[in-house]
Parts: sequence; structure tokens; C-alpha cells
Amino acid sequence: MAISKLVITIDGPAGAGKTTVSRTLAERLGYRYVDTGALYRAVAYAAKHQGVRADDDAALEALCCGLDLKFVSTKSGQRLLSGEVDITDLIRTPEITMLASAVSARPAVRAYLLNVQRDMGRQKGVVFEGRDMGTVVFPDAEMKFFLDANIEVRAHRRYLQQQAVASQKPEEVENQMRRRDQNDSTRDLAPLRPAADAVVIDSTDLSAEEVIECMLTHIYAGDVPGG
Ligand code: DC
Repeated sequence: MAISKLVITIDGPAGAGKTTVSRTLAERLGYRYVDTGALYRAVAYAAKHQGVRADDDAALEALCCGLDLKFVSTKSGQRLLSGEVDITDLIRTPEITMLASAVSARPAVRAYLLNVQRDMGRQKGVVFEGRDMGTVVFPDAEMKFFLDANIEVRAHRRYLQQQAVASQKPEEVENQMRRRDQNDSTRDLAPLRPAADAVVIDSTDLSAEEVIECMLTHIYAGDVPGG
């Protein structure tokens, strides 16, 4: 069944399965996919390389003004460029992960990325994954999901994913995830929480395919917020 082009938001904590699900959902619908966490990671990466502290708002604002972030589609999938540099893999280290959580609490960074993200959503037919997509960036999105899972399952999934890029022990991954959950959900600006009109899905006991099926059912049923 054909549906008109929507903005679909998928928010939730780390390890809930947002990336796999968002990417596949976008593919099935013929939509674009935007990983907004990668944008916060890109700011963190630039801050690290320019020696900017995560609590220096003036310097972060200047840094953001000089950034040029864009997603490009390639044969090996979607890549994130900062200027001409492909930073897709460089932003996945544990250090950048924690720095991204820290810079994401700063007003200058959120204001800058709010505009970047809204620009990316101007043409509909996009799945956005993040923390505040349904609450702040696209409060009028036609379809909102909040994907959650218990912390042990999320930490285990992240541990398995990270084995290729980092040699963290399972308990380190879980501790880092607990700290990040705490930062992301207790910050003053755009804290992680489900939008009032989001469909909440707990993926603890579901496969990615089951989550996608569930989302497609809501999308095709036209369960649009306020609808
Ligand atoms: O999704 P991720 O783990 O790549 O995100 C990295 C950090 O970026 C996360 O700890 C919080 C922040 N973030 C955010 O504040 N708002 C978003 N929409 C996406 C990510």
C-alpha cells in the first residue's frame, strides 16, 4: 500500500536497536535515514581535535559555525563527512561516545544541530533516529516511536557491536551506558523522554524484524499523532 511521505521519528536510549530498525524501515519505505547521534558525535570529534572543552559554550558555538556536516550515500552505505573528511568510523570510539553525550547538553550545540536537522527534514520521506526527534526537533512529525529495552539487554547488544572497534569489557560498556542514560535523560535541554504522542515499543524480547513489523503496522494503520 502506498503512503504519503512522512517524517518518522525514532527516539530512545543507546542500545535499544534504533539504528538497525531505522535504517531498515527507511529502506523498506524508500525513505532517507538520518542518524542524528552521529551529528552530535561529529561535534564531539571536532571539539576534541580543536582542543575545545565540552563546557566552553562560546568556543563550541564558534566551532559549530565552522562545521560543514553532510551525509552521503555510497556503495558501502551512508557516510558522514565533516568538510571533506569521512568521519563515519572515527566517531565510534568510547571516548567520542562520552564526549558526544557531554556536548549534547550544551545550548550552542543543540541550537546549531536543531537547524541542521530541520533542514534535513524539509523534504519529507525521512526516518530520524535520536533522543529528541519527536519532542523537540519535529514535534509535528506524522509518526513517532520511542524504542526502549532493559539496560542489561542494551549493554549486551552494544558490547557485541563494539567488539570490532573497542576492547571494552562487558561491565565497562554497561557502566558507560548507565552514565550516558543518566546524562541524556536528566539534562535541562531536550532530555531523552518519549513524546506524549509517541508509540512506545519495548524491544527487550523482540528481534529487529519484529520491531519493524510492529512499526509498519502502525504506519500503515495511519496511527498518526492526534489522528
Ligand atoms: O545515538 P548515539 O549514541 O550515537 O548518540 C550520541 C550522543 O548524542 C548521545 O549520548 C546523546 C546525544 N544525542 C542527543 O542528545 N540528541 C539526539 N537527537 C541524538 C543524540
